[in-house]
Amino acid sequence: MGQITRSEKDSVEKRSSAALDFGAAWEYAPAPEATDHIRIDPKYELFIGGKWRAPRAGKYFQTISPSTEQVLAEVAEAGAEDVDDAVKAARQAYDNVWSKMRGAERAKYIFRISRAIQEKARELAIVESMDGGKPIKESRDVDVPLAAAHFFYHAGWADKLDYAFQGRPHRPLGVAGQIIPWNFPLLMAAWKIAPALACGNTVVLKPAETTPLTALLLAQIIEECELPPGVVNILTGAGATGAAIASHPDVDKIAFTGSTGVGKRIQKSIAGTTKRLTLELGGKAANIVFGDASLDQAVEGIVRGIYFNQGHVCCAGSRLLVEESVHDVIVRKLKDRMMTLRLGDPLDKNTDVGAINSKMQLGKIRELVEAGEQEGAERYSAPVKLPEKGYWFPPTFFTGAGQSCRIAREEIFGPVLTIMTFRTPDEAIEKANNTMYGLSAGIWTDKGSKIFHMATRLKAGVIWGNTYNKFDPSSPFGGYKESGFGREGGRQGLLAYTDVE
Ligand code: NAI
Ligand code: MG
Repeated sequence: MGQITRSEKDSVEKRSSAALDFGAAWEYAPAPEATDHIRIDPKYELFIGGKWRAPRAGKYFQTISPSTEQVLAEVAEAGAEDVDDAVKAARQAYDNVWSKMRGAERAKYIFRISRAIQEKARELAIVESMDGGKPIKESRDVDVPLAAAHFFYHAGWADKLDYAFQGRPHRPLGVAGQIIPWNFPLLMAAWKIAPALACGNTVVLKPAETTPLTALLLAQIIEECELPPGVVNILTGAGATGAAIASHPDVDKIAFTGSTGVGKRIQKSIAGTTKRLTLELGGKAANIVFGDASLDQAVEGIVRGIYFNQGHVCCAGSRLLVEESVHDVIVRKLKDRMMTLRLGDPLDKNTDVGAINSKMQLGKIRELVEAGEQEGAERYSAPVKLPEKGYWFPPTFFTGAGQSCRIAREEIFGPVLTIMTFRTPDEAIEKANNTMYGLSAGIWTDKGSKIFHMATRLKAGVIWGNTYNKFDPSSPFGGYKESGFGREGGRQGLLAYTDVE
């Protein structure tokens, strides 16, 4: 771990000694975010029907900080009976209050949630980084502002649905069961809850078991905003809780973000029912760099696309397709940039690469990296010192991997990049599309026409041109092929929560 391969070692050491000396002269002093004003309760209950309630079976689990392995809190584990209670509360709130309320009134509540997230932004960002391991830079500048923006954007739609659907008759679906992952815990909760509420549905949401805390803080916010009881219910728990939500007969719609395996299982479990389903699953995005691109800008985009946030992004640019003529220069520039990446304490404001979310995820990353080495690809890992406690993996890339290698096909969900080459735009398109996924792609070139030409032929839901990993609530997000179906965000995202005639 943290080692560089022998063949790379000498040249890197020679080449990078200057860079390291330079780095040492500009060593950053630690700049950790203060945590003394943060309140994490020792124990959290379930939020059902507007009240905090112990789980009927009395079971709890722990959530830890993956950067320190410290226990942060005990969290209730919802069983099937609790799920039933939450669905009943959501049904009552739907029938009696929320589906009858005018859009303009719903909008006020959704707007209030957005404002409360902004007011508590600092606390939410710190708890997000503690519970999930992501750098505070990311949670402070990306996750939390985007979560607030998502509620704000959807507050705007709540009274304008007639325009969204061009006058066609439309009605909400009813009770939405929503299951979310650990990579963007608060943001994914916002992506799910905001459009559901705007369209007049009520919600039972389950956060991931490794990152429940910001969803629980959001439940507190929802309570403070005085949403009618039962409109939003938050149930913590693991896979069994999620399965109980998905299979509950009185849930009208399931929205799931997570692994392709679980997505398929949910799809099977609801086959033959009238439940509506949207799935946002894995990805193996190609970041395509042409020789005419601004290479330094492209390298920055590559780094942001895979190393920031530890590659814990479903649309991470985990395959780099480089035009053959610039392969060596891109690899050299990438190594230089990797030398300056700061890995460590997620709460430090200078940290670029935080902790891997869980021991399990670290195991999966290690397994795939070993497979890459065994399949004959050449590995380079940034020579960073990994902290002793917690779960860490150094920024890594592979060169010389064939398209059939596991590291070129499977979602690694870690800071691991697989670099391959192409000679013509057609070859780039063929290689980029040679995956079971189709969530996102990036194109780097000086020619706008090339971006449009490529974008129409890439089978991916989101395509960035000369940038990467940019999000906006007004821009729909979702996949092709095994990356799932349905869109989140934008006008298209409203369709996931509405029955339109
Ligand atoms: P996962 O798919 O098991 O977990 C996502 C959510 O689904 C969690 O809330 C979990 O509790 C819930 N869940 C698990 N089993 C369920 C079931 N049978 N029915 C209903 N809900 C269930 O993902 P996991 O195990 O945390 O990560 C495994 C891999 O999945 C990662 O290595 C990564 O490749 C991929 N992943 C993709 C994400 C994305 O955003 N597309 C997010 C997280 C993981
Ligand atoms: Mg945790």
